[in-house]
Amino acid sequence: GLPARVRIHEVGPRDGLQNEKTVVPTDVKAEFVRRLAAAGLDTVEATSFVHPKWVPQLADAEDLFPRVKDLPVRLPVLVPNERGLDRALALGARHVAVFASATESFAKANLNRTVDEALAMFEPVVVRARDEGLDVRGYLSMCFGDPWEGAVPIEQVVRVTKALADMGCDELSLGDTIGVATPGHVQALLQALNDAGVPTGRLAVHFHDTYGQALSNTLAALRHGVTTVDASAGGLGGCPYAKSATGNLATEDLVWMLQGLGIETGVDLAALTATSGWMAEQLGRPSPSRTVRALSHK
Ligand code: HMG
Ligand code: MG
Repeated sequence: GLPARVRIHEVGPRDGLQNEKTVVPTDVKAEFVRRLAAAGLDTVEATSFVHPKWVPQLADAEDLFPRVKDLPVRLPVLVPNERGLDRALALGARHVAVFASATESFAKANLNRTVDEALAMFEPVVVRARDEGLDVRGYLSMCFGDPWEGAVPIEQVVRVTKALADMGCDELSLGDTIGVATPGHVQALLQALNDAGVPTGRLAVHFHDTYGQALSNTLAALRHGVTTVDASAGGLGGCPYAKSATGNLATEDLVWMLQGLGIETGVDLAALTATSGWMAEQLGRPSPSRTVRALSHK
């Protein structure tokens, strides 16, 4: 069976804009977050409190967050370490996310750490965030394939996911960072996680559409019982370490499929499409989302 309702975890302002070549003005980012919330998205990942040299696109986090923090939606932010958590707490963030890698190559490229060193860096962050009553998400990148290492063994993903779960992350988002997953692989990973004691209720999925499989993979995850799906308005995003990787699953494409299945999301597709059209104008190029294009040309 399929769920009656799906929670969409919108990542456009963070995962989308962190990959833009040009730095988007803070005012435009704030307007983007506001419009996404107004379109009915109840979780909008706003920015990252990472090192500004690593992700200059989000170096304005201190300036942006206060402009959106009173919106009546969840506004998760990425925090890699205690320094990041301090910055997020100082501004009143209530939802944070740490981000691990299933592979050594990406852990090194993204966090300058081995997989286990990164987990050790996250542990005090997760413990303190939970003590402060925050909601903590744990991202897992490269769950299906890795640009340097190729196919990623399921046991390797299970080990790191379990470590994040045991650390106390409330939710675990399984990332197909380079978009190579197919539905059978998704099903096998979800089953292996269940077998290892990680319940489906704590899992979210995060697909990229490089090979056009993001929606098929999402449907496989929904059939398995997953009810939280990450998506990026207009399909913004990519992966700086995987040249061919296209953006995240477009939120519009996801909503179109869910509407057709009679699954509730609370999202107003017309308002969302208009927002992505507006953002595409700001960025100076059309949205790669099929649904945005189809609905814009009606
Ligand atoms: P490092 O160079 O090893 O840092 O980077 P360090 O711990 O050695 O510290 C060096 C200096 O950075 C120190 O300053 C720190 O204070 C400062 P100094 O004492 O030399 O003057 N520093 C910071 N400053 C501001 N905010 C901070 C911070 N931390 C340290 N939070 C580090 C390690 C983790 C900081 C770095 O690698 C980093 O910031 N990485 C972030 C990379 C990133 O954001 N990637 C994108 C998100 S992951 C993703 O997109 C995938 C996902 O979407 C899912 C999917 O699709 O797979 C989630
Ligand atoms: Mg992503």
